[in-house]
Amino acid sequence: MSIFSKENIKFAKRWIKNPSRMGTFLPLSPKVGKKLIDNMPEISDNGYILEIGSGSGALTKFLYQNEKINKRIICIEIDKELCNILHSKFPELSIINQSAAELERYIDHDLLNKVEIIVSSIPFLSINKSITNAIINSCVKIMNLNHGKMLHVSYTPFVRIKSSNYGMKKIFCKPIWGVPITYLNCYEINNDS
Ligand SMILES: C[S@@+](CC[C@H](N)C(=O)[O-])C[C@H]1O[C@@H](n2cnc3c(N)ncnc32)[C@H](O)[C@@H]1O
Repeated sequence: MSIFSKENIKFAKRWIKNPSRMGTFLPLSPKVGKKLIDNMPEISDNGYILEIGSGSGALTKFLYQNEKINKRIICIEIDKELCNILHSKFPELSIINQSAAELERYIDHDLLNKVEIIVSSIPFLSINKSITNAIINSCVKIMNLNHGKMLHVSYTPFVRIKSSNYGMKKIFCKPIWGVPITYLNCYEINNDS
């Protein structure tokens, strides 16, 4: 897809409207999607992926095409216009136009119980700190239900997630070379302490 595609222009317009919430003016590259799949933890036959901050679906596409995941994906995206793009690209998926800060309020508990992996590309460095806290606390509750893991894509290795503050530990942080360079971070609940 050309970087001047209609979809990328729409994405850039959303960034102009709300730069801190979008974090970037272009969707993540296919290289990031491939790296995400290559580093995806094992998922059971009934397990779900919860993707937070799906944007226009740059990562969703890779999750969606993965046979093992078999379309068991829930997408959370705060921007209504980006949700419309997601709906048109992935009509079978559950796409929720809400903030990832209040997940337990609007996702059925039985479904949350099936979430085994959370995929995030929320720009924690640029959004409000209290929202970051609410999102991560919500994710930690879900990870606790099912020994879940969280994969988070960031633009710097210094994510604003001090894992120990949330009872998590970082399993890895892998650079994804490109312009801009991105990082794939993986977290799980720390049961050692
Ligand atoms: C860096 S973009 C990544 C978009 C997409 N995942 C991609 O791969 O290109 C971050 C996305 O997070 C969304 N976002 C920011 N804050 C959010 C929140 N509190 N809840 C849900 N989505 C949020 C933004 O609207 C934006 O679409």
